[in-house]
Formats: sequence, C-alpha cells, structure tokens
Amino acid sequence: MNMHDVVKKVLITEEELDKRIKEVAKEIEKDYADKTPVMLCLLKGSISYFARLCENMNIPMVYEFLRASSYHGATTTGDVKVSNLPLLDLKGRHIIVVEDIIDTGLTLSCILEVLKKYEPASIEMTTLLDKPARRQVEGIVPKYVGFVIPDEFVLGFGLDWNEEYRNLPYIGVLKDEFYK
Ligand code: IMP
Repeated sequence: MNMHDVVKKVLITEEELDKRIKEVAKEIEKDYADKTPVMLCLLKGSISYFARLCENMNIPMVYEFLRASSYHGATTTGDVKVSNLPLLDLKGRHIIVVEDIIDTGLTLSCILEVLKKYEPASIEMTTLLDKPARRQVEGIVPKYVGFVIPDEFVLGFGLDWNEEYRNLPYIGVLKDEFYK
C-alpha cells in the first residue's frame, strides 16, 4: 500500500511548511536572543516541527522532551497522559512548548499545569497548526502559530493517524472513509 493513498488532499505543501517555519523561527529568535530558552518538544507529533524550527534559530538553546497522549484514532478521548517528565532543572528558565497541533486545548492545559510546578521564569507556546474552532479550554493562546487550519483531521509532518503516517513530508487531510 502506498501511504499517500489515505490522503484526500494536501493542505500544506513541503515548501509552504519550510517557508513558514523559518519565519516563526526568526520571530522566536528575536524574542529569546539573550534567554537560552528550553525548547520543550511534545512527543511524538511535534518531532518534525521541533527539529525544523530549532535548526533555523541561531541562538543558544537546550532541548527537553515530554510525552503527552490523548488521541486514539481520529477522535479525542479527553484523557491526557503526561510522561517522560523533564530531566533538566526548569526553575527560572524560559520554556517554549513546541506543539504540533492545538485542537481542544486539553493537552496543553494539562502540560502547562505540570510545567508550572517547576517554577520556570516564563512559559510560551508555539504550535505548527491551530484549529481554534475546536477549542474547549479558555486561555490556551499560543504566541507563535504556523498555520490556522479548518476543522479537518490532518496527518503528516509528525502528525499521525493511528500512529502511522508521521513520515509524510507534507500536511494532508485524511480521506473521509477513514475518519470516524
Ligand atoms: P488537544 O488536546 O485536543 O488540543 O489535541 C492535541 C493533540 O491531539 C495533538 O498534539 C495531536 O497529537 C492530536 N491531534 C489533534 N488534532 C489532530 C489531527 O487533526 N490529526 C492528528 N492528530 C491530531
């Protein structure tokens, strides 16, 4: 089976991703020039965005990783599990949470609660994709957004459908027959 067969249409091409991520990287770089931020990657979906973003920021930074899972298939369960707690000392540090997509906002609100306990100097969020139409939690406002997208189930560039298709190099929309 060819993995491109589950894609109804390409929503964001490889070229568009590359161009926009470089722009966001420059914005963050400007704001964090003297702060050596902790770039916090939310596994697994953010991995492609995280790598592309960080390699385009020409300032000192450190990497950290958190695992948050809330999805089974194409619908949310609202049940967020957080694991791989950070090993770095986050107290007094400037954290930038790097997310692949914000949908209901439940995942990020749980993550923010966990992170606040470490007493960082600041926490900001960046997301590659934002689906504001689906937001259930108030106050989840990412400072740096790649693309605002409509309420469709997307996959590729780190985002999965049932754990697969993360390696598609673009953001695609899943065919309707798979979306339940
Ligand atoms: P939230 O907690 O509803 O904001 O969902 C955030 C998480 O759900 C993301 O980190 C993704 O892993 C997953 N997710 C939300 N929408 C999609 C989608 O359209 N495709 C793939 N994963 C998604």
